[in-house]
Amino acid sequence: MKTIIKKLDEKVIDKSVIEEAGAIIRAGGLVAFPTETVYGLGADALQPKASEKIYAAKGRPSDNPLIVHIADFKDLNKIVREVPGRARILAERFWPGPLTMILNKSERVPLETTGGLETVGIRMPNNNIALELIRAGGGYIAAPSANTSGKPSPTIASHVEEDLNGKIPLILDGGPVGIGIESTIVDLTLDAPQILRPGYVTPQMLEEALGEVVIIDPAISGQEVKGRPKAPGMKYKHYAPKADLIIVQGTREAVTDRINRLCMDNKEQGITAGVICTKETEQRYKHGVIKSIGSREDEETIARHLFGILREFDKEEVSVIYTESFESEGLGQAVMNRLVKAAGHHFLEV
Ligand code: TXA
Ligand code: MG
Repeated sequence: MKTIIKKLDEKVIDKSVIEEAGAIIRAGGLVAFPTETVYGLGADALQPKASEKIYAAKGRPSDNPLIVHIADFKDLNKIVREVPGRARILAERFWPGPLTMILNKSERVPLETTGGLETVGIRMPNNNIALELIRAGGGYIAAPSANTSGKPSPTIASHVEEDLNGKIPLILDGGPVGIGIESTIVDLTLDAPQILRPGYVTPQMLEEALGEVVIIDPAISGQEVKGRPKAPGMKYKHYAPKADLIIVQGTREAVTDRINRLCMDNKEQGITAGVICTKETEQRYKHGVIKSIGSREDEETIARHLFGILREFDKEEVSVIYTESFESEGLGQAVMNRLVKAAGHHFLEV
């Protein structure tokens, strides 16, 4: 299959391209598109065969459910059993935006879309290309991140092309995304709302809106999750670069010293190492392939660069990557959650 890439300007959207893309979705095909978080790989969420194509193109395990994207709040009614008060409150505050809510699904949503679950993840993205595509495609677009399963999520259209060229008919290129990490996921089917994946919408923001919220992601809460993980995606290897990734933790001084020493040792052994550092420490590293992710003063930039940097290292001849660690609060928590998964929980305490 030939993959066509069409550029779109979010401010003046070419309607004929949206109409073409919407027709592909309505016919049960796949279209990759930008959202404010990461690029998504979209299909009609209400057609079982269309959802199955997403799993095939990504190489995604079939028990890992998809998020359904809507463009209008009233459309929620058709795909859930009921709209709880909490969902109204959150939608009012955070939609369109980087928040996915888990609700009990209605019969209209096929089990192929929810990975066999009776619940469904739903969000309204804050990107006009995405919203127009959803409307043109019939109102309900199932979309995981548009990467091959296990690889870092795509933040520019060429990342999608790297992974899915020849497997899908169309990529809508809306330029670089604004946020760079996936939506916060909150489960509203339980007594207390639970955060299943941290993101741009922080626990503090959700607490302010709802009162109590519970965090169950072991990567951030330190809790062991036994049995079936709440967000099935959590159990799979994620975001991993080709090289081994190691998170070095400690005081800034100790971390830079140790990474420098490790890089030097590696060099003596004929191994090239990579370093993910920050603007504040960039000058201190002397060996290896050094990439700054941004300033610690600006967590939004760090979030936006994370997946791109992991992908860049796949093009370098490095066999190990050392990274500094980040805050465990606010947006830093979401960044660390992705980094911990990318590193397969590989830490070095110094
Ligand atoms: O920002 C985002 O959320 C992006 C853009 C494209 O919207 N999408 C995204 O989708 O990150 P994906 O498939 O890469 O991640 C979805 C996560 C998975 O970990 C999945 O297990 C979880 O959401 N999920 C989806 N539906 C669920 C459900 N009913 N119950 C629990 N977890 C669910
Ligand atoms: Mg994903």
